[in-house]
Amino acid sequence: MRLSDVHGLARLALAAVLTASFVPQTGARETTDQSIERRVDELLGQMTLEEKVGQLNLVSHGPPLRWEDISEGKTGALLNFNSAQDVARAQALARQSRLKIPPLFGLDVLHGFRTQFPLPLGEAAAFSPRVSRMASEWGAKEAAYIGVNWTFAPMADLSRDSRWGRIVEGFGEDPHLGSVLTAARVEGFRQGGLAASTKHFAGYGAPQGGRDYDTTYIPRAEMYDTYLPPFRAAVEAGSASFMAAFNALNGEPSTANSWLLTDVLRRQWGFDGFVTSDWVGIGELINHGIAADGAEAARKAILAGVDMDMMGLLYIKHLPDEVRAGRVPESVVDESVRRVLRTKFRMGLFDRPDIDPSRVDSVFPSPESRQAAREVARETFVLLQNRGDVLPVPASARSIAVIGPLADAPHDQMGPHAARGHKEDSVTILEGIRRRAKDAGMTVRHAPACDLFCRDTSGLQAALDVAKQSDFVVAVFGEPQELSGEAASRAYLELNGKQIEVLEELAKTGKPIALVLLGGRPQVLGRVAERIPAILMAWYPGTEAGPAVADVLFGDVSPSGKLPLTWPRATAQLPLYYNRLPTGRPTLDNNRFTLQYIDEGIAPLYPFGWGLSYTQFAYSDAAIAQKRLEQGEALEVTVSVTNTGKREGQEVVQLYTRDPVASRSRPLRELKAFEKIALKPGETKRVTLRVPVESLGFHLDDGTTLVEEGAIQVFVGGSSLAERIGDAEIAKTFRIPPMERRASASTSVAQ
Ligand code: BGC
Repeated sequence: MRLSDVHGLARLALAAVLTASFVPQTGARETTDQSIERRVDELLGQMTLEEKVGQLNLVSHGPPLRWEDISEGKTGALLNFNSAQDVARAQALARQSRLKIPPLFGLDVLHGFRTQFPLPLGEAAAFSPRVSRMASEWGAKEAAYIGVNWTFAPMADLSRDSRWGRIVEGFGEDPHLGSVLTAARVEGFRQGGLAASTKHFAGYGAPQGGRDYDTTYIPRAEMYDTYLPPFRAAVEAGSASFMAAFNALNGEPSTANSWLLTDVLRRQWGFDGFVTSDWVGIGELINHGIAADGAEAARKAILAGVDMDMMGLLYIKHLPDEVRAGRVPESVVDESVRRVLRTKFRMGLFDRPDIDPSRVDSVFPSPESRQAAREVARETFVLLQNRGDVLPVPASARSIAVIGPLADAPHDQMGPHAARGHKEDSVTILEGIRRRAKDAGMTVRHAPACDLFCRDTSGLQAALDVAKQSDFVVAVFGEPQELSGEAASRAYLELNGKQIEVLEELAKTGKPIALVLLGGRPQVLGRVAERIPAILMAWYPGTEAGPAVADVLFGDVSPSGKLPLTWPRATAQLPLYYNRLPTGRPTLDNNRFTLQYIDEGIAPLYPFGWGLSYTQFAYSDAAIAQKRLEQGEALEVTVSVTNTGKREGQEVVQLYTRDPVASRSRPLRELKAFEKIALKPGETKRVTLRVPVESLGFHLDDGTTLVEEGAIQVFVGGSSLAERIGDAEIAKTFRIPPMERRASASTSVAQ
């Protein structure tokens, strides 16, 4: 079969997957909902207690899975099924079961399936729901093609501490950006044919000391203001399920936290899908010290609102006895099963044919998925600095030295959590530069200088020789992927190994030099920020890293990413974030009795929202539409943005607010709306940003939103350093109890 035939077939199959995916959420919703509830009740009425609990049992491929459990109705959900053959086998077994309930097939599809897109933190730097939707849709389409129907994503955990390795899986530090992008990801997954399981509910991104799995203390009002909004956005975007977090929140493990799982998620937000535990999370309640044994752990988890047991096998083992002994009401089990079945009906699983076992994921990456991965990746690169306009690589350069181990690292460029990513599919940064340089008649020489961890620098001299013989040096360094992701918290965020030394030696050659930095978090750059004039943060760009990096290095596309988090100068500054509260002692340079360290600056190296372009943007004529806002209205700000440079570019127009006098200290700045726009040289666009007035308030411990009368300062610009453009005023104080709040910012652009 020719390659084009394979792609044609893949497209047809994708179309089938997409049309079969989800019941529409609008229009005939009432009728559809009623018919689903009827079917759920009918089914539930026929189930034995063991069959019910079987629907709550989620087991991974490999041990301890007993395939016969599927045909006996004891395993209603499966994870880590990576091939159509295995999915089809499990589906056939489920069809042999008494009630023929189709299984869920879950997988961590975070940033692609076979084609790898940038890691979520990098994708967040695009500041573009369109880009997030597109990346998630592709990952979903590829996974759905071989029968996966459920993803353990998006991760909606906000984090202000880059020591935490999993910061790479999220959107960074801002609740507004996080809410917009989490919703976009949920929608993208759905469009691609996967139900989302938004995780990890909740507070997992704020472990003490940045240590993965460690305990978290967050006051309830702060949960509502900062950590919960992205999860709420996921509910509103139609996330089919949620995953409980590993951590204890204020002393109560999330996996048995009825405030989170029942009061907030179900009662206040009206979520009617299901919640799964994380991997053996229910069993870990014993380690947390709130359960004496598996039976107690299972009981506490289900009573708190965890419907499904991932890999613990505790529900299947203990719940029937717990029910028979009267310690867990059967109605609680019924409600959990109802949530799971409802979701399966909504996903259309009962009406979908089984997967064709001959499907293989090697039909991907396709030319289309590669193109999409390249487009997404180049939107995510953040130009942190560019002194003397070193970048883009000048057309006059005849030779380029590509130095560094990550330039030729097909595995590492995919980043952690790479699902079915194959390094053989990767186009390396070296290869991308080679292809592009060839077109421009430039020669390329490569020297790694050191190993991936930069411990062995025996290659340094060779690298310096190559640099000296070349007109331009591109250095590619950073974090190998093993240092990022789950269980990869770091105490030292300095460029690892001897990278600083190597980069300083390269800078001493006097050649124009740009650093392309890879990694899943900001890294402490130390002297490198002074010695290397141009630094491009490329995160983990994925399969098409090479072409995407080359597009930006050579100036075919201007960089347009903005930092989704604050970039520290020193690890010891963490946690560090822009939307901090004021103090009674604001920082004064020559007064040590103000907020500061005596041995380190208080400011970050690069602020939240920061990122340069190859062109420049000027903001003018900013106007606030109405100065007095009543309940139900929106703050509306209009501003003109002009491309004053000589190249095309994209700018992320950002709106921040501050409530300077309130009954409680309020953050110095909060992002409330943003819009990414493209501008040709000389072009001006007028951008309108809207913020519902309810979003200008804050929460009380019970989830009530309080919007207080008084002035609100408004700032607009291209980063969190945005300038103040004036004030608006909230006319009268009002309160909104939890169930009534429906607020989302919206924006529009006019030419
Ligand atoms: C992680 C989850 C993930 C699960 C299944 C756990 O270790 O915390 O985020 O979805 O494994 O792979």
